[in-house]
Amino acid sequence: MKHFINFDAISDLQNAVQEVRSLKKNPFASEQLGKHKTLGMLFFNPSLRTRLSTQKAAQHLGLKTMVMNFSNEAWALEFEDGTKMSGLRSEHIKEAAAVVSQYCDVVAIRAFASLSDKQKDEEEQVLNNFARYASIPVINMESATAHPLQALADAVTIDEHKLTKRPKIVLSWAPHPKALPHAVGNSFTKMVQQMDADFIIAQPEGYELNPEITKNTPVIYNQEEALEEADFVYAKNWCSYKEYGKILRTDSSWMLTAEKMKLTNNAKFMHCLPVRRNVVVSDDVLDHPNSLVIEQANNRTFAAQWVLKQVLQNG
Ligand code: CP
Repeated sequence: MKHFINFDAISDLQNAVQEVRSLKKNPFASEQLGKHKTLGMLFFNPSLRTRLSTQKAAQHLGLKTMVMNFSNEAWALEFEDGTKMSGLRSEHIKEAAAVVSQYCDVVAIRAFASLSDKQKDEEEQVLNNFARYASIPVINMESATAHPLQALADAVTIDEHKLTKRPKIVLSWAPHPKALPHAVGNSFTKMVQQMDADFIIAQPEGYELNPEITKNTPVIYNQEEALEEADFVYAKNWCSYKEYGKILRTDSSWMLTAEKMKLTNNAKFMHCLPVRRNVVVSDDVLDHPNSLVIEQANNRTFAAQWVLKQVLQNG
């Protein structure tokens, strides 16, 4: 694996999940691998889990880390070629990526979608230009369209908790007051498509994800119907993809509640966090023993450690 920019970088998910589970049992087995090497972590957006779990993963491998809040501490970047840089952008990505490559052996980047320019968001301008101009491996810590580190951690969490060979997994849209990107929904969908699972997306009409990602995954517009006999329920908000960036509804009828969870097969509840209590999901679901949200967050460390190991060995 040279770069880890989207979930397609994982060629064998089942093998990756088993390797992540082994790392979790013995996290210091490869603590010499990153000795005298540095992971640079560039954040264009806020983070709690990704920032801390990726640093912890690096520590397990003996890597040093350098963390920079790029959006307010670095020079504003220009991404277009041939531009006369007489405006607010002070540094071109060509130099920035090349310079970061002098100080670091691997660079991990978080750069969310603008939700205003669909074409630019889908081009993954920040991640792809770093990959183009850096001479070191690039890792996605959530980009405009993908959050593959989260999806790998979620795959591990499902593997640890499934009670049947082929569980029913429901990705349910849930309400949120802000327009949120599609990255988590996209990567979760791509990940579950590679699992042996009965997978359904439940959402209100108008909230269809990119059809190039959902492909043949069934979409149900009735949440209660989708939840019937589910083994895992993954709640997540995203804004409209078709009417790009828009919030089409704000009512609470799609919030996950204990009453709705009664329709399931005693399902485990999942969310990537951060989550807005009693907006996305009610307290009684989040505080129930079937909630896996903290275990998902814990597995972020070992998912990131597996990815760092791959790029250190093969990047
Ligand atoms: N789930 C997740 O990526 O959390 P953070 O945004 O806090 O990193």
